[in-house]
Amino acid sequence: MAVILAARNISKEFAAGRTGAVRALSGVSADVEEGRVVCFRGRSGSGKTTLVNILGALDMPTEGSVMFGGEDITALSEAKRDRLRRYEMAFVFQSVALIGSMTAFENVELALRLAGVPAGERARRVSECLARVGLEKRSGHRPAELSGGEQQRVAIARAICHNPKVIFADEPTAELDTVTGLAVMRLFRDLVKEGEFGRAIVMTTHDEAMMESADVTYTLEDGEITSVDVQR
Ligand SMILES: Nc1ncnc2c1ncn2[C@@H]1O[C@H](COP(=O)(O)OP(=O)(O)OP(=O)(O)O)[C@@H](O)[C@H]1O
Ligand SMILES: [Mg+2]
Repeated sequence: MAVILAARNISKEFAAGRTGAVRALSGVSADVEEGRVVCFRGRSGSGKTTLVNILGALDMPTEGSVMFGGEDITALSEAKRDRLRRYEMAFVFQSVALIGSMTAFENVELALRLAGVPAGERARRVSECLARVGLEKRSGHRPAELSGGEQQRVAIARAICHNPKVIFADEPTAELDTVTGLAVMRLFRDLVKEGEFGRAIVMTTHDEAMMESADVTYTLEDGEITSVDVQR
């Protein structure tokens, strides 16, 4: 399988507060292969969010590189990194950030508008993505009229609608019950297998039940990778 995203010897130090500098990551290397759900797990404070933010070009490492599409994206200008985030990547967060005054359909369509997809194509693509996450019947509902799991699925539809190469999900199941969380994990696995809506998922969790559904799990302890488990 082709490696589409790779962390090479990443370290991250946050500037000193009153207690001194915090070393959040030390010498972290990890590969994300096409068609895989890659999970980073670890205790609170182990560096999961910091790492995912660096892999997703939201933050810069202090040392090391992130290889994506054959180049080190940490060396790119902020404008180019912005373009990467917008067109090639997608983000799903723990607390779903849907716009409350918009329907599920409108929330997903907004993402397509921001990605520059022409109006004529948008409606078809929104319907396709909402159907893909099993919410075609809820497209006219506002977030407040949807369950937590349904809102998370709208957020996933919004993330996949512009066909990103990598979907980053920081604790996507943390606010869901186990059954709903596992359904989200299954959806992730199906999405990357098909490849049409995104080609790899990079996620974090501290829920053991969710890791079973990942293809590869890296364990972080105090900012270092201490084990790698390949489930399939
Ligand atoms: N902006 C920041 N400034 C200073 N220190 C930070 C900053 N962001 C994170 N840290 C520190 O870096 C370490 C790693 O934090 P990170 O958020 O990556 O952990 P995490 O594994 O995602 O934890 P959680 O499971 O609680 O979300 C922690 O010690 C945290 O206090
Ligand atoms: Mg975190």
